[in-house]
Amino acid sequence: MYLLEFGGEDDAFAACEAASAASGVSRIAPGLALADAVVPRRVRGLAYTHRASDLVGHTDADLESARTLLETAPLEREGSIAVRAVDVHGSTGVSTTETERALGQVLVDRGFSVDLDDPDHVLRAAFSRGRLEPGGTVEADAATGDLVRPLEGGDQRGEHTSVCALGWLEAASVRDFGERAPTDKPFFQPGSMDPLLARAVANVAGAHPGRTVLDPMCGTGGVLVEAGLVGADVIGTDAQEKMARGARENLAHFLEPTEPSPTGVSRGSWHVGRGDATRLPLAADSVDAVVFDAPYGRQSKIDTHRLADLVSGALAETRRVASRAVVVADRSWATEARDVGWDLEAAFERRVHRSLTRYVLVCE
Ligand SMILES: C[S@@+](CC[C@H](N)C(=O)[O-])C[C@H]1O[C@@H](n2cnc3c(N)ncnc32)[C@H](O)[C@@H]1O
Repeated sequence: MYLLEFGGEDDAFAACEAASAASGVSRIAPGLALADAVVPRRVRGLAYTHRASDLVGHTDADLESARTLLETAPLEREGSIAVRAVDVHGSTGVSTTETERALGQVLVDRGFSVDLDDPDHVLRAAFSRGRLEPGGTVEADAATGDLVRPLEGGDQRGEHTSVCALGWLEAASVRDFGERAPTDKPFFQPGSMDPLLARAVANVAGAHPGRTVLDPMCGTGGVLVEAGLVGADVIGTDAQEKMARGARENLAHFLEPTEPSPTGVSRGSWHVGRGDATRLPLAADSVDAVVFDAPYGRQSKIDTHRLADLVSGALAETRRVASRAVVVADRSWATEARDVGWDLEAAFERRVHRSLTRYVLVCE
């Protein structure tokens, strides 16, 4: 078993993304999940999971319980160690320095040496307490298309949890997203997707080496850059020539540098052209997955279609060319997705700020 440490506020979405690099993901406390197996090279490319560790065990969220667990657990390792403790969202009040010292002492008593600078093994000790917010699977109201959260276990506030999980660090995600802030890219336009969300939706779509991912409304190419960096071959179209040209500039910049990719995976190939997402110049079933960020009502510059027709048309075209799609938008297009034959695997609402909520639909 593995311990996953999430990075942000939205654990249900993080768990959905983590499933692209792990099997049997189940959340155990705010910010923490367990998985049956992980693919370390894919963990390195995750956006909302920071670390995966080989689970030693889990217990209650207090130092005494953690100490007892570590004293009795089988530890099939040898060499030098360092202990790194974290108190997720400061929810348990445990002292992380005291924890690191106390658990380090247990390991010394069990025959390990301490090396804080270059240890052979890092023991992660993650403490978290709080309610597990339900999320991830939401239903679309048949009449309005609004997303409605089903009740989980009869308690909408979620189960109360108190967990300390210990594990040997196995893989950490590469935190280089700041180098690709939209405003720092060679081509920038307002409305570009931030690289963390872009990476997450690319992963949810299944961007891996050997897969082809299409963004039919690619804008500045934010999603395509992230999908290409985790090894997928990417194709983009945009109705505006300016965008297609700009996306090419960004893709050439980020997918064709000479130094190796920090995730250790070869970057994918890329193609971008001007095109209409409702009439794609692609054969049926020619790509593995589609990701698109639908124009937002208030920003849309395209007047040839009403927005709803545009999104419905794009959803129908993506259904023709792919068997999986991830759609990001400022409203739920769940009804439109179902109308053209997609099943909803999951849907998420992500509050960006007071006046903007982003909806993410995962369609199969
Ligand atoms: C919200 S933006 C996409 C932003 C993009 N994800 C990024 O990171 O830059 C939506 C894009 O859809 C494009 N678009 C609108 N209607 C389109 C259509 N019918 N076919 C293709 N692209 C279209 C717009 O030109 C715009 O670039």
